[in-house]
Amino acid sequence: MSQRILIVGGNSEIAGATVSHLRAQGREVLATTRRADRAGADRPLLDLAQPVGNWAIPADLGAACFCAAIARLADCARNPEGSSRVNVTGTVALADRLLARGIPVLFLSTDKVFDGSRAHVPADAPLCPVSEYGRQKAAAEAALHLRMAQDAPVAILRLAKVVSPGMELVCRWLADLRAGKPVRAFHDMMMAPTPVALVAQTIERLLAELSTGIFQLTGPRDIAYSEVAVHLARRAGVDPALVEAVSAHSIDLPEGSTAANTTLDSTALSQRFGIAVPDAIEVVDALIDSCG
Ligand SMILES: NC(=O)c1ccc[n+]([C@@H]2O[C@H](COP(=O)([O-])OP(=O)(O)OC[C@H]3O[C@@H](n4cnc5c(N)ncnc54)[C@H](OP(=O)(O)O)[C@@H]3O)[C@@H](O)[C@H]2O)c1
Repeated sequence: MSQRILIVGGNSEIAGATVSHLRAQGREVLATTRRADRAGADRPLLDLAQPVGNWAIPADLGAACFCAAIARLADCARNPEGSSRVNVTGTVALADRLLARGIPVLFLSTDKVFDGSRAHVPADAPLCPVSEYGRQKAAAEAALHLRMAQDAPVAILRLAKVVSPGMELVCRWLADLRAGKPVRAFHDMMMAPTPVALVAQTIERLLAELSTGIFQLTGPRDIAYSEVAVHLARRAGVDPALVEAVSAHSIDLPEGSTAANTTLDSTALSQRFGIAVPDAIEVVDALIDSCG
């Protein structure tokens, strides 16, 4: 079997970590870009907003992972049609072309396919998005579920907040707090952060095993952004009163931004690969160390 992996959306945060991890494992990777100046032998040019019917599928692909998306709630709310062209139409059309050639497909989805009313949502719970982004991801999932039901080699990996070393918000808050400056943090916006390295490892395992079905990977519990900031203050050795906890409703955020829960039942991946996300505070501590 071929070893070449296609990463659709090679410039994404998750793709960056995944491409590095796959290459470190000795896998040959092609990572698409929609920017002509970045295109090259292992960077095929692909714009999912354009028709993909004539896109030249590279030879010798063993599997493909979809990382490309308009992945911000606000961007989807602002431009539902344009974002849907990428997140649903282009994504499903390309997945269909790959599947027609027997190439297994892994699609990255989100906790936002649920309404956030429930913690640790099971993978088979009915989808109930409340945001435009969530509705688009749910629509792409629904199309892929149909292919899955016909035994097509499709896997879906749902994630919530993924964090990378040097995360801008955390490092900025930390620098401000160390300088004795106050920071404002939402008490009603939650995260169950997952380190990007664990996501990359999960994608590599799912692709290596050509897994099919729905998988979920989030932290085990949600904490508020304000709790993160208070923890940073304590770690910086400054007065936690420097953190002003404010409501996310004080600014104009798209629907779905303040879900009470973002955790998904992630036991299947833990049982299958031994991959489990540490507690949120442990993840935040690693981020602090990465800020330097
Ligand atoms: N990161 C998270 O916290 C998180 C959480 C849950 C789910 N997810 C899902 O995981 C996947 C990857 O997320 P991410 O945060 O790594 O994404 P990201 O950093 O926001 O990057 C998205 C990528 O999609 C590409 N893209 C946008 N429009 C495109 C188009 N028309 N054609 C081709 N490519 C296009 C972008 O290309 P350019 O670089 O050229 O702009 C960018 O590289 C997404 O499906 C997202 O919904 C992410």
